[in-house]
Amino acid sequence: MIAKLIKKKTKVKTKYAPKIKDKIFVKDSPRLLEVEPNSIICGDCIEIMKKMPSGSIDLIITSPPYNLKNSTGNGMNVNTKSGKWATAALRNGYSNHDDSMPHQKYVEWQRQCLEEMVRIIKDDGAIFYNHKRRVQNGLLQDREDIVSGFPVRQIIIWKRKGGFNFNPGYFLPTYEVIYLIAKPKFKLLPKANAYGDVWEFAQEMKNPHPAPFPVSLIDRIISSTNAEIVLDPFAGSGTTAISAIKNKRKFICIELSIEYCKMSEKRIREFNMQQELISS
Ligand SMILES: C[S@@+](CC[C@H](N)C(=O)[O-])C[C@H]1O[C@@H](n2cnc3c(N)ncnc32)[C@H](O)[C@@H]1O
Repeated sequence: MIAKLIKKKTKVKTKYAPKIKDKIFVKDSPRLLEVEPNSIICGDCIEIMKKMPSGSIDLIITSPPYNLKNSTGNGMNVNTKSGKWATAALRNGYSNHDDSMPHQKYVEWQRQCLEEMVRIIKDDGAIFYNHKRRVQNGLLQDREDIVSGFPVRQIIIWKRKGGFNFNPGYFLPTYEVIYLIAKPKFKLLPKANAYGDVWEFAQEMKNPHPAPFPVSLIDRIISSTNAEIVLDPFAGSGTTAISAIKNKRKFICIELSIEYCKMSEKRIREFNMQQELISS
C-alpha cells in the first residue's frame, strides 16, 4: 500500500497570488479558473473560489479564522496583556490576517465564503466547516448567525483534550463543532456512520502553524467519503493536503499567507520523503 503511494508520489504545484487575467484563467470565461488538482494557491479564498466552476469539487474541509482576537473571554482579548495564555500562538493572529474583525463584518465575510463553497461543490458534495462556540460578555455565542440558511445536515462535536479558559463563570470549554453542510445527494461510505457524531481527537501540538487540524481528524472525514477532489479554502499548513495524499485523493489548497503556503509545500515534500524512507 505504501509502495503504491510512492509510485504515485504527489507533485505539488503552487501558484502565488494569481491575479485576474493571469494565465491560469480560462480564456473567454472569466468565471473559470483552471485549478489543477494537487495545487496550493496563495491568495484570497473568495477571489479564487469565485473563479472556480460550479459543481467542480467533491468535498470541502476547512477551518476559517475564528475571529478570536476580539474575544471578551478566554484570555484572547487583544487588550489583555496578562494572563496564562498571554503567549498562546493565536494571540498574534495569523501571519497575514489579524483575526480581529468587527463581529457583523466577520459574519458577512464567512457567509460569503460559504455561499461560494456551496456553489462549487457537486450535487453530492459536502462541506465540513469547523468552528468554535464561545462565551462573550457572559452569553453563549454560537455560530448560528454564520450558518443559518445553509443546508446544515449535522453538527459533529470535536472533543479536544483539555482547553483553555480560567473563567469561574462557566465550565472549561473542551469542544469545537464541525458543521456538515451537504447537498441533497451527499452520502457517506458504508459503515462510516458508525463513527457517531462525537469525535475525540487531541489537538496537534507539533505543527508551527497557530491553529492546525490534527491529521487524524481529516483522515476520518476524507476516508468516510468517496470524494476524489478535496478543497480547503483556509488551508493554513496544508493538513487537508497531507490527509488527501494519505487517502489517495487529490487536493486543492487556498491560503492567503505566503508563509503558510511555503509551510504546506515543505510539509508535503517531507511527507513524500518520509513515505519513501519507510518503503525503502
Ligand atoms: C484556522 S487556520 C487553518 C489551519 C489549517 N486547518 C491547518 O491545519 O493548518 C485559518 C487560515 O486561514 C487563512 N486565511 C485568513 N484569511 C484568508 C483568506 N481571505 N483567504 C484564504 N486564507 C485565509 C489564515 O492565514 C490561516 O492560515
